[in-house]
Amino acid sequence: MSTKTARAYPNIALVKYWGKRDEALMLPAAGSLSLTLDEFATTTIVRVDDTVAEDQFVLNGAPQSGDSLGRVTRFLDLVRSMAGSSAPAAVDSINEAPTGAGLASSASGFAALAVAAAAAYGLDLDRAALSRLARRGSGSAARSLVDGLSVWHAGDGDETSFAEPVTGPDMRMIIVTVDSRQKAISSRTAMRLTALTSPFYQGWVESTEASLAAMLEACRDNDFSRVGRITESHALRMHAVIQSSDPPVRYLSPTSIAIFDEVVALRDAGVEAYSTADAGPNVAVITRPDDAERVATALEQYGEVRIVSAGPGATLIDTPAKAAE
Ligand code: DP6
Repeated sequence: MSTKTARAYPNIALVKYWGKRDEALMLPAAGSLSLTLDEFATTTIVRVDDTVAEDQFVLNGAPQSGDSLGRVTRFLDLVRSMAGSSAPAAVDSINEAPTGAGLASSASGFAALAVAAAAAYGLDLDRAALSRLARRGSGSAARSLVDGLSVWHAGDGDETSFAEPVTGPDMRMIIVTVDSRQKAISSRTAMRLTALTSPFYQGWVESTEASLAAMLEACRDNDFSRVGRITESHALRMHAVIQSSDPPVRYLSPTSIAIFDEVVALRDAGVEAYSTADAGPNVAVITRPDDAERVATALEQYGEVRIVSAGPGATLIDTPAKAAE
């Protein structure tokens, strides 16, 4: 029996991943770049246990079944095939993201699971291999293996599609929670729909490669303004291509749009801030560290605001004494 515990944080992409070129291997249509956060951690304990009949998965104290357990079991099957093991595991996960904050993403979940499960099954994997493994659970999880700014290479295939660190400007992110209800359509389903039905999908993929190249240059130059401009225009392009699916999908709400407008007004008033949003109505705004409080105050009228910074990539931590018994 072997028990290992890992902690991982969510990430928010500045250049987004939206579309796969290989669903089985979870290879993205284009590369992406994100910021790993320092809040809303997922802590996951994996106990490999020959004496239990099948995998178990408990999330925030609630035993899981159906799709939720199925995703974990399929991921553990991959780890077991790599480790040459057939032993089931008990997975116990705590997600600190407030329910529905739009940050209860699968990224921190699968990054923590990849690190804990690989260790519990005795695999000795380097960062790139752990990032590749996490990718198989959820694409965006590949980036949560990395501290702070992280680029996930589209790669030529499984071996080259992983995330690694990027040096860039110091920034803060203001998360504005507009609506805490669960989204109507998951990223996975909606990105498949976009790829299959949007007449603009090819343009989206090509422009994402261009946005990523420009973003990497802006990071190298430590150019916060350029990072911000690319972030905002790229986010609006993603929402445009999503809306162009058939049937259409729209994640941004009138309040989300009002926040994008408020951020433009802040810039007009001389405060540099730039918006982005994932597959939901909540908005994340990047600023220079010194402007974070002022921007957060301006956005309080739209929802609950939280200022977050760059955080660490997924790592093993000591198993809590109670769980180790
Ligand atoms: C809008 O990584 O959740 O947040 O790979 O199917 O699990 P799967 O999708 P997921 O999609 C993330 C979409 C996004 C953009 C991003 O994080 O880059």
